[in-house]
Amino acid sequence: MYGLVNKAIKDLVVTNYGEEAWIEIASRAGFDEGEFLGLQPYPDKLTYDLVRHASEVLKADAHVILEAFGEYWITYTAEEGYGELMDLSGNNFSDFLSNLDMLHTRMSNMMPHLAPPQFTTRNEKSNSLELEYRSERAGLTPMLFGLIKGLGKRFGLTCRIKQLVEKGPDSDCHVFLIEWE
Ligand code: HEM
Repeated sequence: MYGLVNKAIKDLVVTNYGEEAWIEIASRAGFDEGEFLGLQPYPDKLTYDLVRHASEVLKADAHVILEAFGEYWITYTAEEGYGELMDLSGNNFSDFLSNLDMLHTRMSNMMPHLAPPQFTTRNEKSNSLELEYRSERAGLTPMLFGLIKGLGKRFGLTCRIKQLVEKGPDSDCHVFLIEWE
């Protein structure tokens, strides 16, 4: 994944647990370059290793870390130069969710090797919708819980998220029910 993602993981760890914890995590993951370059692609394995070692060093489940990371990503990207893109992606929560592919497509102009997830909204009601999530990567659904919660907060909403369907032999995507108030 692009370095921007790894940078955000580092920032989350350093902000909440301090520099020492990060140095230990980066060293266990075999990353000795100090800084990530936001616009450079890194192997996915590095990102997964960072999460795995963060889980060990911080003694927290990987899914808790991924969820916290998802929520952090919403404010991190807004502050790290992508605020305008966020503003362009929808004036309300459900429009924003419908525009997630457009958001990532715009990122591919700057990041030609981006392998973005794909999202489809369906069954939209006044206070709920279902979100289909497709990705070539496995294991990231906990991140969705944080991303959606964080995005809801951006619009002053409290969200309930439930996974309705897991990707598998019977479905080519994960499906989430999102309700808000
Ligand atoms: C300005 C805001 C955003 C930016 C700049 C951004 C950019 C990115 C980048 C660079 C990646 C890594 C993909 C790669 O390197 O191949 C990524 C992955 C991802 N993004 Fe976004 N994104 C933003 C907002 C969102 C939002 C709001 C959501 C969902 C609510 C979302 C969902 C995801 C997910 C789930 C992944 C993990 C990759 C996967 O599932 O395969 N992103 N995004």
